[in-house]
Amino acid sequence: MSYQFTPNYTNSTILAIESSCDDTSVAIIHKGNILANVVAGQSVHQHWGGVVPELASREHQKNIIPTIHKALSLSNLSLLQMDAISYTQGPGLAGSLLVGANVAKGIAIGLNKQLIGVNHLFAHIAALFIENKDIQLPCACLLVSGGHTQIILIQANYEGIVLGSTLDDAAGEAFDKAAKLLNLPYPGGPLVDKLASSGDADFIQFPISDIPNYDFSFSGIKTSLLYYLQKQNSEYIQKHLSDICASYQKAIISALIRKINKLMKNQKIASIAIAGGVSANSLLRDQIDHLATKNSIPAYIPAFEYCTDNAAMIACAAAMQFQNGHFSTINQSIFTKC
Ligand code: KG4
Ligand code: ZN
Repeated sequence: MSYQFTPNYTNSTILAIESSCDDTSVAIIHKGNILANVVAGQSVHQHWGGVVPELASREHQKNIIPTIHKALSLSNLSLLQMDAISYTQGPGLAGSLLVGANVAKGIAIGLNKQLIGVNHLFAHIAALFIENKDIQLPCACLLVSGGHTQIILIQANYEGIVLGSTLDDAAGEAFDKAAKLLNLPYPGGPLVDKLASSGDADFIQFPISDIPNYDFSFSGIKTSLLYYLQKQNSEYIQKHLSDICASYQKAIISALIRKINKLMKNQKIASIAIAGGVSANSLLRDQIDHLATKNSIPAYIPAFEYCTDNAAMIACAAAMQFQNGHFSTINQSIFTKC
């Protein structure tokens, strides 16, 4: 599997919609610059401890038009000035994707605009180019989100080769599942990160799976936390909540850093990067920064607004596709491989 990036993507004005999970987001890109990036979150899921797909699609339906209006107004542009309308084609929740795809198709048909379906994972990595137009290659990149974990080598020709993926849970999923076991609200990643900041990361030694090649596995760490918690009483767990979070976080981040280290040992790497929701994690950001300094190479660490789901990344990826004449047709399904 591979992704094709395009560093110069300045010949378009595009409205982008992201609706793959529980955030409705709309962005406008104009000549390679993000003019607006509006995100409407969905608090309804907190009560259920995870994203409820049916509720997510209903919330998208409610939020999408006001979010489009807000993004247009921030950018001082109108729909008529767009060259294309883009949307997240997948992967994601079907009901959520359908809302964004159908609104994008409606606008494209009504105003006779080009349509661009974008792969969500490609977009997470493409977002690195928003802040860094001149990425040093080859670049070793970790894509770490709630649904996916991949290690990608972006080669000198801007082709990103996926070298490894998770065999079970994604890194973000491992954070969220731990939070659930600890009775913390959804999404758990940011909370585990916050609690970990005041904890002892060596309090418990969680196992770090040692899968050969570049694949990952996080289900063992999660199971190990479950067994650990089953042996403790709730008072003890509350007293050591920060220590447990810090130890758990350390195991997940160590597993990620280990693979980047392995890639750097096996071949010449000119830079390292992180993308996706878990790239907001403070320990991962620190460790990537540290590793880059140690090896005297640049680290590309996205601003927080470009880590978790956002339409700016869809806009950036769509602008790359526009530059290459890579458009979608109106009858393109969200279920086709993108
Ligand atoms: O990229 P994203 O917004 O959605 C997907 O494409 O999946 O990633 C969301 C994931 C969630 O699992 C969330 O818990 C995790 O990113 N996340 C974090 C942090 N902020 C978000 N995980 C660890 N530490 C954080 N600070
Ligand atoms: Zn995402």
